[in-house]
Amino acid sequence: MFDKLREIEKNVSETLSKARSLDELNEIRVRFLGRKGEITTLLRGLKDLKPDERAEFGRTANEVKDHLEMAISKKINDLKRLEMETRLQNEKVDVTLPGLPFQRGGKHPLSLVTEEIREIFTGMGFSVAEGPEIESDYYNFEALNIPKDHPARDMQDSFYISEEILLRTHTSPVQVRTMEKMAPHLPVKIIVPGRVYRRDDDATHSPMFHQVEGLLVDTRITFGDLKGILMTFARKIFSEDLEVRYRPSFFPFTEPSAEMDISCVICKGSGCRVCSNTGWLEILGAGMVNPRVLQYGGYDPEYVTGFAFGMGVERIAMLKYGVNDLRLFFDNDVRFLKQF
Ligand code: DAH
Repeated sequence: MFDKLREIEKNVSETLSKARSLDELNEIRVRFLGRKGEITTLLRGLKDLKPDERAEFGRTANEVKDHLEMAISKKINDLKRLEMETRLQNEKVDVTLPGLPFQRGGKHPLSLVTEEIREIFTGMGFSVAEGPEIESDYYNFEALNIPKDHPARDMQDSFYISEEILLRTHTSPVQVRTMEKMAPHLPVKIIVPGRVYRRDDDATHSPMFHQVEGLLVDTRITFGDLKGILMTFARKIFSEDLEVRYRPSFFPFTEPSAEMDISCVICKGSGCRVCSNTGWLEILGAGMVNPRVLQYGGYDPEYVTGFAFGMGVERIAMLKYGVNDLRLFFDNDVRFLKQF
């Protein structure tokens, strides 16, 4: 039995030195020290020994057992340390490396232009109003003095949801919506940025585009006020040396109506392709609010007057940034968007 014990001891140190994983170590522990392990089995034979031999054998067996336990724990620690060292080695971070480049997002050019327009007008005391994109025939046309069958509706052919409901073709319906809410308070001094929809689709027209409407209603508002405000706006958004001119025009909701041109931002007025050699660029529609529209809004045209204007954000952005195809704004190509 003593021989057997020595043999086990030798076996153990051999197997231990070959063990490469915690699993293997566990197997070794079970094989020698477990309830059915070799040493345990050997100790069961203790009762068959003579009393003096029994004591000695017991002592030796316990020594071997302790020795073995110690050897296994040491090996476990060694393996764990080794594993940690390999991990530290593999997962080593070079803290002196420069950081990874970080891609920053940016604002869409149309948002930038809209924000700039808002900034300029709020700086002149205008508030920002909004209205629904799904609009009634009443606010989109009727209350703007565009009766059914009026030819002005053709220019704004739109997406109808039903006979009476459509996607708004301009931001002008917010004029009457706001006046209705505010009457009889004065002044009504708002701009209305927003999306509008028309059945158009080419290099300078998109079925969805953006407008900013303006409305100022008060006592004694004149065309002179309109000119002052719009000149200030045009010079701030393009350049201080810009010239403007007004051409008579027609809109059912303004009387008189005008279109404002600015001196060409590309050639400064000398004539180029962008301005078709005229030196001028059409930039917005405007006019004195038609008395009937004031009435629809709940104001008495005997006492108040007003001016209104409407501009296309895409057009302003195209001129400001020199973009020649409006569709670029909606393709979402980062190579384009990155430039702003
Ligand atoms: N609503 C017009 C359009 O979309 C633009 C416009 C013209 C708005 C004259 C106005 C205005 O407020 O006075 O074509």
